[in-house]
Amino acid sequence: MTKKAIILAGGAGSRLFPITKIVCKQLLPVYDKPMICYPLATLMLGGLRDVLIISTPKDLPMLRDFLGDGAQLGIQIQYSEQPKPNGIAEAFLIGEKFIGNSGASLILGDNIFYGKLDFFREALALKSGACIFGYQVRDPERYGVVEFDRNGRAISLEEKPKRPRTHFAVPGLYVYDEQVVDLCKSLRPSARGELEITDLNLLYLKKNELQVKLLSRGMAWLDTGTQTSLLEASNYIATIEHRQGLKVACLEEVALRMKFITCSELAKTIDQLPSGDYRDYLRMACDEGPTAGPEPVG
Ligand code: DAU
Repeated sequence: MTKKAIILAGGAGSRLFPITKIVCKQLLPVYDKPMICYPLATLMLGGLRDVLIISTPKDLPMLRDFLGDGAQLGIQIQYSEQPKPNGIAEAFLIGEKFIGNSGASLILGDNIFYGKLDFFREALALKSGACIFGYQVRDPERYGVVEFDRNGRAISLEEKPKRPRTHFAVPGLYVYDEQVVDLCKSLRPSARGELEITDLNLLYLKKNELQVKLLSRGMAWLDTGTQTSLLEASNYIATIEHRQGLKVACLEEVALRMKFITCSELAKTIDQLPSGDYRDYLRMACDEGPTAGPEPVG
């Protein structure tokens, strides 16, 4: 459907204060790397190479310092400011020029997916409309919640309902066609003063142009919204990495596997890295080449 992708990485980070007093949430470590590596790896594994990162004027310079223009990963990264947290759907108004008339995917900079990403690739292969996902959680009232009819078609969407109709939360990964910017222009702020992503999805639902795919139990969609869930996400990644000896969301490795960069380009990056585990890991990935071992997930 589209090759453009936005990572929304702003917000006040108030729930995680004081760890977010200096460093924004999306640069906090999730085990051995900053949080934003995970959503960026998800986009890259979906085959997307044209990325816009949106964050606050305060945090954008640090994100830019960390990721640069993406050349070392064989992708293009641009940056735009969101001066105030006016809502997730505002990303498409800020990104209007970047999107042009091509549509865009959006991933929230604090959303971590681990598992086979076929569901995302299938959504990207759709010709038109929008595609979002449903994931079973214990505490749906904290999220957008989707309800299905007997045939598996979405029939309602609610943002943080007090009494959720189902246990299916909508994760922060969305795929939209070229109508997205115009539809966002028609949105009005909600009672909490935000342009709600759920209201955008409702517009597509009303037009009968919204697909909602259920993610399987084998997928992990990890929460990082509270101190405890952040720790749990770190422990989850640490457990997988220790068991397999493979890293999750190692961006340079993903770039090599996706053939966005060659082994010799990766070797040049490695030369500039400080010695340590990360460098040793990349050296191994580089020596083994882009097709050795299991393909990266998450
Ligand atoms: O994580 C999935 C959930 O994300 C969805 O199920 C909900 O439908 C969706 O509204 C959103 O809920 P959250 O409660 O997680 O939204 P929050 O306001 O915490 O924002 C999510 C991330 O986006 C957070 O890291 C901050 C960033 N953000 C948020 C807003 C409102 C921005 O960068 N700018 C914004 O204006």
